[in-house]
Amino acid sequence: MTIRIAVNGAAGRMGRCLIQGVAQTEGLTLSAAIARVESSLLGLDAGELAGVGKLGVEITSDFGAAVAQSDIIVDFTLPEVTMELIPHCLESQCRLVIGTTGFSDEQKKLIEQAGEQIAIVLAPNMSVGVNLSLKLLDIAARVLGDDADIEIIEAHHRHKVDAPSGTALRMGEVIADALGRDLKTCSVYGREGRTGERDSKTIGFATVRAGDIVGDHTVMFAAEGERVEITHRASSRMTFALGAMRASSWLMSYKRGLYDMQDVLSLRD
Ligand SMILES: NC(=O)c1ccc[n+]([C@@H]2O[C@H](COP(=O)([O-])OP(=O)(O)OC[C@H]3O[C@@H](n4cnc5c(N)ncnc54)[C@H](OP(=O)(O)O)[C@@H]3O)[C@@H](O)[C@H]2O)c1
Repeated sequence: MTIRIAVNGAAGRMGRCLIQGVAQTEGLTLSAAIARVESSLLGLDAGELAGVGKLGVEITSDFGAAVAQSDIIVDFTLPEVTMELIPHCLESQCRLVIGTTGFSDEQKKLIEQAGEQIAIVLAPNMSVGVNLSLKLLDIAARVLGDDADIEIIEAHHRHKVDAPSGTALRMGEVIADALGRDLKTCSVYGREGRTGERDSKTIGFATVRAGDIVGDHTVMFAAEGERVEITHRASSRMTFALGAMRASSWLMSYKRGLYDMQDVLSLRD
């Protein structure tokens, strides 16, 4: 069976990679490509826009029509756009793969509720390597425990609008869970001036925004006399797009539920 994939945010940096990802993945076909209603690209061929040749799918702004003719919609846009899309998915019982980052707690709750009716994969980072890194971070945190000071350093391109990255926050959550801490109360975002000594129970975040960096994350576990660093570097956005394709194929086995890439890659204990 060929899986019909719609791409939301088709004109974006990730949207174009996702169209390429669909075109190069066996068993997937592009059913719709959505851009915003004011976009000057409406009506163009999605394949030509993404540089993979004509696919016979015109860029549209019609969510309803797009989900009605698709098995799965892959969304890499903005939180408010994802929230606008969800009711259409519920109405058409269309599965959803969400790569968008920057959701508020309230928006996350609404996504969780939608997961009671349709199958959703929500992952701030779809790269297989990053998700393997999450597993390694869980192990490192459990082994090194409270003896290590933990700092998360991330770098992304100048166009990224949220900080720290969704991936850095997810890394922090995984570590906090492993150590029995609450990230909300133990995180420190940047430091300046007379900060006083470091509180050993905190998890620090540092953000770099520069040039065209696709996405670098390093987590440092610094203890007395030694330091463990786990680093992931993405060199092309295609890593996220191919992860989203893997999530899409996997999601077809489910009718409802909220999942993440740990589920897709069978990395849960
Ligand atoms: N999970 C992951 O692995 C992963 C990896 C990379 C990025 N991301 C996340 O994915 C999101 C997109 O990143 P990006 O770098 O591709 O950003 P981007 O280039 O700004 O793309 C966002 C796209 O959404 C479009 N959009 C805005 N309003 C819309 C609407 N109402 N309907 C349909 N499309 C609409 C924008 O259209 P215009 O061009 O017309 O403004 C733009 O093309 C961000 O949240 C980013 O953090 C996640």
